[in-house]
Amino acid sequence: MTRPADFWNSVYDDDTAPWVIGEPQPAIVELEREGWITGRVLDPGCGAGEHTILLTRLGYDVRGIDMSPSAVEYARANAAAQGVPAAVFEVADALTLGDRADFAGDPPGSAPAFDTIVDSALFHVFGTEDAERAAYVRSLHAICKPGGVLHVLALSDTEPGFGPRISDTLIRESFRDGWTVEDLRPARYRGRITDTVAQNAEGLEVSESGKVDLAAWLARIRRE
Ligand SMILES: C[S@@+](CC[C@H](N)C(=O)[O-])C[C@H]1O[C@@H](n2cnc3c(N)ncnc32)[C@H](O)[C@@H]1O
Repeated sequence: MTRPADFWNSVYDDDTAPWVIGEPQPAIVELEREGWITGRVLDPGCGAGEHTILLTRLGYDVRGIDMSPSAVEYARANAAAQGVPAAVFEVADALTLGDRADFAGDPPGSAPAFDTIVDSALFHVFGTEDAERAAYVRSLHAICKPGGVLHVLALSDTEPGFGPRISDTLIRESFRDGWTVEDLRPARYRGRITDTVAQNAEGLEVSESGKVDLAAWLARIRRE
């Protein structure tokens, strides 16, 4: 089983989440600059909300969802503090989005709502859990319009680091049916060293502010 909401809540409540870095991921900022984000956007597992805040500020129609109420509370406060109170967040389980008529239509999958999905460090959470990973891929398929794009930024197993690190093969194999992996390249995911990961930080290049750019994959996957 992947971690329950209580685990995710605790790292926001204690402010020990190593992915809460006070800025959007540079790889996602770059994606937006290159024009890879269009139309209605979903930010699943939005965490502190940095990507929803960034995209709302830039004028996108975007919604951040997270299964952790503490994450959503954190994201709303973060958006207000950054002067973007219009950023929209809600508590939702990314594994069952197809059940939402407003996201997927009724019957499920008949009217997918999203043109672009920006997954920053959620897919890898399901990495070793075959059933949950498959449920997540099905859930995204139901809500992503045909021809729409899913971006996956996931920690990579090619270098030492912390967090759930996965292979590029796992990404390709997960999106065989109903999707086309158009691009899959090495990237970086920025994290910060907190008490929860300090023991795994040996040998990593850590900046003066305690941040580290971990090996990652960036995939662009088109919904057929
Ligand atoms: C590693 S964090 C990444 C947060 C953010 N996207 C980022 O890159 O900073 C993963 C997030 O996914 C959320 N999460 C985990 N399982 C989830 C699920 N089944 N549905 C929705 N959110 C989930 C966690 O609460 C956590 O906020």
